[in-house]
Amino acid sequence: MHTVLTHPLVKHRVTLMRDINTKPKQFRELVNEITEFLAIESLKDLRTIEIPVTTPVAKTTGVKIEDSIVIVPILRAGMGMLDAMLHVLPYAKVGVLGMQRNEATAEPVPYYAKVPPAKSDELAIVIDPMLATGGSACDAFAQLKKLGYRRIVFLNLIAAPEGIAKIENEHPDVPVFTAAKDERLNSHFYIVPGLGDAGDRIFGTL
Ligand code: PRP
Ligand code: URA
Repeated sequence: MHTVLTHPLVKHRVTLMRDINTKPKQFRELVNEITEFLAIESLKDLRTIEIPVTTPVAKTTGVKIEDSIVIVPILRAGMGMLDAMLHVLPYAKVGVLGMQRNEATAEPVPYYAKVPPAKSDELAIVIDPMLATGGSACDAFAQLKKLGYRRIVFLNLIAAPEGIAKIENEHPDVPVFTAAKDERLNSHFYIVPGLGDAGDRIFGTL
């Protein structure tokens, strides 16, 4: 299952983010702003419990988030979405997965993993701005499943149809939320029209 955000405030920001003239400072701000929209859309079904609350006027009831959550950025570009996720979910844990695409084959090469084992039915939210072939995301889901995670959701800024299809084939249990579904991959496995190399644009390493 995949969901593409259609809100005009998201589309406006995605347009600015794609622009070749957008510099790293503004690019990072846009990544964070779009990530907050993705978080809000994807976490509508978070588990809550009812709790009492006393207002200055009366006693009533409210809710408290019951889900335990681990946010998992895929290094390096996924770090660009982390501040926004922690803004929305300040009590979440963070685990990281290091992954670097082989430039020639686009195969993911895992180089680091620091994720706590899953506690009961803890929710893992994987974040990565780019979903191209889907190799990195699927490797991340496989690593998390080995650690015991049974509830995984993937938040992404720009997705290629090829990457979405790979996730839906190999991990149909992982819902994908993206801010844009693009046309295709080019011969270098870059997303078209995309935004170029997300890591380089976030960290100013172009
Ligand atoms: C980018 C991106 C994803 C991956 C997507 O990372 O952030 O992790 O490529 O491609 P895929 O769907 O074909 O696997 P990259 O490997 O360029 O590393 P970086 O984040 O360190 O720049
Ligand atoms: N990684 C990126 O940063 N951009 C792409 O277009 C594909 C993979």
